[in-house]
Amino acid sequence: MRKKIVAGNWKMNKTFSEADELVSDIMDKLEQIELDRNVQVIVCPPFPYLEMCTDYANDSYFAVGAQNVSDQERGAYTGEVSAEMLKSLELVDYCIVGHSERRAYYGETDAIVAAKVNQLLAHEITPIVCCGEVLEEREANRQFDVVRRQITDGLFHLTPEQFNGIVIAYEPVWAIGTGKTATPEQAQEMHAFIRNLINEKYGENIAQETTILYGGSCKPSNAKELFANPDVDGGLIGGASLKADDFIAIAQAF
Ligand code: PGA
Repeated sequence: MRKKIVAGNWKMNKTFSEADELVSDIMDKLEQIELDRNVQVIVCPPFPYLEMCTDYANDSYFAVGAQNVSDQERGAYTGEVSAEMLKSLELVDYCIVGHSERRAYYGETDAIVAAKVNQLLAHEITPIVCCGEVLEEREANRQFDVVRRQITDGLFHLTPEQFNGIVIAYEPVWAIGTGKTATPEQAQEMHAFIRNLINEKYGENIAQETTILYGGSCKPSNAKELFANPDVDGGLIGGASLKADDFIAIAQAF
């Protein structure tokens, strides 16, 4: 059975002490509840807080991810953080790649996404690869073409062995931070489309094993109906991951 994941993308929020409070709050609450053993809770804090968060990553429910990684191995790349560095922190097991904010504000192309995925896999960190269309593309009914291109150009150079274990997050850009969520039908339709792409390229087994998350204004009030869909395996949560109560309520929505 494929893994179900609720991952919190904190983005560029919180001071160190606020971040410490949030993660310890999340851990306290996780201890008080009963989660399905197949559910993995991940927090993705800013780089300076990764190590602090990994101090808590001793429970099998709970893992830590980074929000970004360099597409280069090492060397003269001022300001960059490599996959090797993330790995050397130990217990950084995931990393978000290709988030729409990185694509829009920092010029992250599908080729860069592919290079980052390669770096992460070389250092045994699981990429959480984001895809999704902007509003104009949805209005022009081009969402499937856009997502097909992002998945094909970002991921389909991988061997089946490499692809196995990749996590995909479908995040329609018009739903991110806008309060406007995709309907459960829109999410399911795109998730099934993505799973079918994987099936065509890598076969049924890998397609069925791949965790595909939904992201975009996912919150306690809509998580249940989103996660109830057969191809929606959890969520990548922005705003609602900054409050422990909301984040945990979403983790309980399966
Ligand atoms: P949001 O962000 O939940 O605040 O819409 C999701 C994301 O960008 O990953």
